[in-house]
Amino acid sequence: MENDGRRKFLGICLAGATVVATAAAAYPVFRYLAPASGPSGAEKLVFASSELPEGEAKFFEYAGSAAVLVRTKTGETVALSAVCTHLGCIVQWVKQSQDFLCPCHAGQFTADGTVLSGPPPKPLAKIPVSVAEGKITVG
Ligand code: FES
Repeated sequence: MENDGRRKFLGICLAGATVVATAAAAYPVFRYLAPASGPSGAEKLVFASSELPEGEAKFFEYAGSAAVLVRTKTGETVALSAVCTHLGCIVQWVKQSQDFLCPCHAGQFTADGTVLSGPPPKPLAKIPVSVAEGKITVG
């Protein structure tokens, strides 16, 4: 009788320890596989409109990744991920041609992130942006 109680108690302890050990082992794998929090979960960033003249780009960090704001010559403001969709290099703004060039394999994107040429399989990811009262709000 007393041994049954001990067996039950030890069984419960062993089951609990197994659950804790499994969770501890699985957590790093889950963190590795889970996607990083996207722009929707990131904080909003605010820039003064004066920081971004027409035809210029401003690089910054957003949600732990490289991002870029562009004010096109037509006055449109665009926020994009600056991470190339090919193999993840950081794109560069080419003011003369008003487009992005990836230094790794010469991928080219328009100012709104559309693929112009090269190996990138898809456009640069857009980030929500709004402009009001002299401020650019990203996120
Ligand atoms: S990483 Fe950008 S073109 Fe290859």
